[in-house]
Amino acid sequence: MPPTLTVDEVTSLLLDIRDFDNPLREKELHKLLYFIKHGLQEEGIDADIPYFWYRYGTMAKLSDAETSIAQTDDGTAVFCLEGHVDRLFNSAKVVRMEIPYTKDEISAAILETIRANELASCYIRPLVYRGFETFSIDPTPCPVEVAIVTIEWGRYLGPEAIEQGVDVGVSSWRRMTPGAFPAAAKVGGQYINSQLIAMEAHKHGYVEGIALDANGYVSEGSGENLFMVSRGEIVTPPLASSILEGITRRCVVTLAREEGYTVREEFIPREALYMADEVFFTGTAAEITPVRSIDGVPVGEGGRGPVTERLQELFFGITSGELEDRHSWLTEVR
Ligand SMILES: Cc1ncc(COP(=O)(O)O)c(C=O)c1O
Repeated sequence: MPPTLTVDEVTSLLLDIRDFDNPLREKELHKLLYFIKHGLQEEGIDADIPYFWYRYGTMAKLSDAETSIAQTDDGTAVFCLEGHVDRLFNSAKVVRMEIPYTKDEISAAILETIRANELASCYIRPLVYRGFETFSIDPTPCPVEVAIVTIEWGRYLGPEAIEQGVDVGVSSWRRMTPGAFPAAAKVGGQYINSQLIAMEAHKHGYVEGIALDANGYVSEGSGENLFMVSRGEIVTPPLASSILEGITRRCVVTLAREEGYTVREEFIPREALYMADEVFFTGTAAEITPVRSIDGVPVGEGGRGPVTERLQELFFGITSGELEDRHSWLTEVR
């Protein structure tokens, strides 16, 4: 039997190590998984999930989704909970994992985890993974289990990134070939690809890398979708460019079309990036982040462009509760 912590023990551990700079954090974080393994809660917390399982894909048989949390006047709310839970189930389906809970149960457990940890703002990572049964390559006999991790996290691409933009480079690593890995599903194993892209970018002094697809067209960042503004029109790569279909991407497309912009999904050759007026990333963690240079070449004027800024105003207006949540994107935690 793996060691089991009580909910109280985990909560106090969490309070101790929530601070991102705390050296205990890396070592202890794996104990903070809030399990819904044998019922929605109250069962205590197993400490048996190796840290690397959720550190993106060093273990292949894992599927996850992330949801971000928003602060509104009415308190804390989760952004696009339903969309994220739907994607979690779809991703699990692609990798033949049957989640032993309903979508409503998973959504309730996510809200309960935030409440239990008394978090006003956090990053949520529900994980669906295969527990232990066999060492065989075929994991079918392994039980499918679920854990929900919440952590407090600042601006993913740096504190100034939202206003000033980030410097990025085109990666030498490609996104996966269609038919080899299911890029559109959020499956842990393929985050080895994201890790390689991110590590290379950081090594070269960039904040993030942009990966091309197997055919040389622009795909996405290691953890963000990409948009380009050219002559007043917005273009983003299609699913066929091996992108993850981002939930933030979907919201941004909706907001942009409501503002009257033409948004097209089309293959983007690399050189179009250098000719673009604006480029920005979207993602749960990155939100909407302008790109100010690519491979040392300034994008447009070399800062945040007006279309990106307008979309940020709309997006952050909704997530902060200042603008009406007219698409019902927020689920209050209470
Ligand atoms: C590879 C990749 N692309 C795009 C995204 C953005 O997706 P979303 O907006 O759903 O967070 C993510 C988010 O983690 C990602 O990992």
